[in-house]
Amino acid sequence: MARILAIGTATLDLIFTLTHYPDEDAELRARGLRPSLGGNAANTLVVLSQLGHMCAFGGVLADGQEATPILERLAGHRIDLTACRRVAGRPPISCVLVSLEGGTRTIVHFRDLPEYGDAEFKRIDLTPFDWVHFEGRDGPETARMVRRLRETRPDLLCSVEVEKPRPGIEAVFADVKMLVFSRVYANYLGFDAPHALLFKIREQAPQADLIVTWGKEGAYGLDRRGAIYHSPAFSPVEVKDTLGAGDTFNAGLIDAYVRGRGLADALSLACRLAGKKCGQIGLEGLGEKER
Ligand code: FRU
Repeated sequence: MARILAIGTATLDLIFTLTHYPDEDAELRARGLRPSLGGNAANTLVVLSQLGHMCAFGGVLADGQEATPILERLAGHRIDLTACRRVAGRPPISCVLVSLEGGTRTIVHFRDLPEYGDAEFKRIDLTPFDWVHFEGRDGPETARMVRRLRETRPDLLCSVEVEKPRPGIEAVFADVKMLVFSRVYANYLGFDAPHALLFKIREQAPQADLIVTWGKEGAYGLDRRGAIYHSPAFSPVEVKDTLGAGDTFNAGLIDAYVRGRGLADALSLACRLAGKKCGQIGLEGLGEKER
């Protein structure tokens, strides 16, 4: 069991299940509607808590009535909220369309909250933690938090997820143990092959283990020694719901690392866990052991 802090967002996901993805201007009756906790960091922690870790969340939490399911779900997973900043207002809300015809998830996201940053992060007592994970959002703020961590607790391991292009996010690259990129980010930088992205990033982050997820191909990794690894995707017999698969993958990586596994094992365990997630609805039950 490790103590893991994740910095990022917690959202209210309103998940509409549809037989197929609708045309624009169409009217379609949903098969189901499920409110759920979402947000990359929150999702990753929900999975890590089920894997037996003590989890804490640092993010901005709104106090409006719509935030109640967010707080209940975080509490249900015993996720510590001491590091959060509380503000008046609406929480971030996502309208998620999950198509039963292939499990795709289309997300429309609303957010009207300030970003969590170093002003909040510097108040956290980092003493108990074994790992800190950042959802890479505001570039300069994330870089400040990562630098503070490096200066105050150089022994504390840290990962950053770079899912979307964010101005200034490259400033974190030289300061962390693990960087996780998405294919979207690779494409944004002009790379259509995973290795090309990993070797390019390595120039700025020679100290880090680098990972990029590549959809149905699985995930690729490049470790600090320069060794390259690949794990195939473990697609379930039936893809039911891909919402949060990337966040689950990140939880699988962190879980493997805090248990002392190397990049090769971590990639394979994370791909298995993400595959399991795609074969079920939601994130509950992912901690049940079959590893
Ligand atoms: C999935 C997710 C959802 C959330 C959205 C925010 O990765 O975290 O739960 O609504 O992304 O961008």
